[in-house]
Amino acid sequence: MAAGSTVIVRPARGVRGLVRIPGDKSISHRYAMLAAIAEGTSRFHNFSAARDCASTLGCLRALGCEWERKEDGAIEVRGRGPRLSAPTEPLECGNSGSTMRMLSGILAAQPFTSELVGDESLSRRPMARIMKPLSEMGAKLEAQEGGRPPLKIHGGSLKAIRYQPEVASAQVKTCVLFAGFFAEGDTSVEEPIRTRDHGELALRAFGAQVERSGNTARIRGGQKLHAIEAHVPGDLSSAAFFLCAAALFPGSELTLPGILMNPTRARLLDILIQMGLKISVAQLEEHHGELIGAIEARGGTWKGGNIAGADTAALIDEIPVLAAAAPYTENGLEVRDAKELRVKESDRIAAVAANLRKMGAEIEERPDGLRIPGRQQLHGAELDSFGDHRIAMAFAVAALRAEGETSIRGADAAGVSYPAFFEDLQTVAGR
Ligand code: S3P
Repeated sequence: MAAGSTVIVRPARGVRGLVRIPGDKSISHRYAMLAAIAEGTSRFHNFSAARDCASTLGCLRALGCEWERKEDGAIEVRGRGPRLSAPTEPLECGNSGSTMRMLSGILAAQPFTSELVGDESLSRRPMARIMKPLSEMGAKLEAQEGGRPPLKIHGGSLKAIRYQPEVASAQVKTCVLFAGFFAEGDTSVEEPIRTRDHGELALRAFGAQVERSGNTARIRGGQKLHAIEAHVPGDLSSAAFFLCAAALFPGSELTLPGILMNPTRARLLDILIQMGLKISVAQLEEHHGELIGAIEARGGTWKGGNIAGADTAALIDEIPVLAAAAPYTENGLEVRDAKELRVKESDRIAAVAANLRKMGAEIEERPDGLRIPGRQQLHGAELDSFGDHRIAMAFAVAALRAEGETSIRGADAAGVSYPAFFEDLQTVAGR
């Protein structure tokens, strides 16, 4: 799909079939970064196809870490041990906040200066949340006004800290734990609300000891990582688009094999069940501490619900699609405590509200959320992705139940997390 491309989505009569969802983006970033600083060569199957993960791999190459894609599709990363090479150019993070924030934890401990840059969207996103703990640990960081990228990191030896972030962010937690891996002493992060724990699980998979009690994760500095071979589970946040599409049509039947079931991510399934989607999970397995299972979903009555507090943090990436599908519920959807959505790849509260209104929906936009009444019939419209992958995909789902065609400008943004999304949606949308 060409940059800036427009995709037309026609209404569907139902959703039926099987989709193989690409590898989880959050886990792929972490595995690649840890593989780079491990001893030995790691191999990853079903590594995310996302453009964001390609940004991480590109930065690692610029830091002297060699990797290649093998014939079977696996990614092989040759670990360098804890020391990377000084980059000769700014590190291009593209659209990826995860790359910039998590890699910073490693760069803060390197004895050189690096500069991280991003696209227009990433250049607006807040970095103060990682600059504060990394500065406390002893690194020197510079950013633009308001803590926006480009971000310059003068790394060096770090000291351990006990950190209590103000925002619930797995990227911040992972960044501090990665820095703590290099620091002298025990570094801990106590989160206000527990977020996804892929950072902790990945560190353990590579052989580090990481302790957890309650909302606190702790790592001792000066450990060694060893290479692993791993299978990356299918991304549940990508699966969410298909699950919501199935929820829109009573009688839909969808199979999604090999999906991530990590409890810190799987709250989505409970909420979808409460909202009326029938879900069963089979073939549960564990790979390097990550749960994986096959999802069978059937559309029933799409009832609606409420998302607030810890649920909002647990569903932060899925709220755009839940909201886009909400006008078709019986009772509507209310989302609260979601201020973080305003500083994602786009202002996702404003983007959802603007697109839903273009489709004729009545909706209330609030500083920290949305209230979307149910039983609304939407019409096709000319929509914008706002350069945001999750907005592009969320509205492709909403368009399936609208009257008439919907066009989504900038739909190629989907490639940031799911390059084959529109093709896969096409195969299951019955017309
Ligand atoms: C992610 C954490 C979340 C999420 C992002 C991926 C991660 O961001 O929105 O898509 O892999 O840790 P925050 O940590 O900023 O909430």
